[in-house]
Amino acid sequence: MARTPIIAPSILSADFAKLGEEVEAVQAAGADWLHVDVMDGHFVPNITIGPDVVKAVKRHAKVPLDVHLMIAPVDAYLEAFREAGADSLLIHPEAGPHLNRSLQHIRKLGARAGVVFNPSTDPSVIRWMMDDVDQILVMSINPGFGGQKFMPSQLPKIAALRKMIDETGRDIPLEVDGGVTPETARLCLDAGATALVAGTAVFKGGPSAYAANIAALRSA
Ligand code: DX5
Ligand code: ZN
Repeated sequence: MARTPIIAPSILSADFAKLGEEVEAVQAAGADWLHVDVMDGHFVPNITIGPDVVKAVKRHAKVPLDVHLMIAPVDAYLEAFREAGADSLLIHPEAGPHLNRSLQHIRKLGARAGVVFNPSTDPSVIRWMMDDVDQILVMSINPGFGGQKFMPSQLPKIAALRKMIDETGRDIPLEVDGGVTPETARLCLDAGATALVAGTAVFKGGPSAYAANIAALRSA
């Protein structure tokens, strides 16, 4: 059970004016993946970045880009983000009319197809299509902003999804995103998560603190 969690720093908390340096610094500090939060001001009440910035990040990336799309309708943009360098494309079931078709599209583009669960989204949305899912992300906050407080109400959902994944016999990463700190990370890992997304907890204190911040999450 106790395996080392994947650590995916969310660059939403990085200094956007120095994005290349920030990306290199978190990678040197031990990041396994880079989590990229794309927001459209419509699906979520905040606007962040588009494919051009993902492409710029990709030039500095040595680890996979985990691209979390908080945009709707999402389908028309899958190809652009894949071409920009996304290795995983994570979509919300609420962001389009046919989740399964969107997941198939992502795989056809050659990326890993991920499903994101808002706090109110039930695990049952993927029950009959686990074969088409490569990754799962549980939001432990309402999506839109970094720096929010972890919602313990999502822990039973992590456990339920862990069970669904185990029944497939496949190694599907189970990520948690939002308010992840060394303390809340422990709860997530105990519930069955295998990957931790963290913005504030990784980027606090500036580049000289990144290695210690990542180590603290990893050993949670
Ligand atoms: C929010 C994003 C998160 C966010 C997490 O919608 O999906 O990835 O950056 O930030 P922290 O770790 O600060 O809660
Ligand atoms: Zn995210």
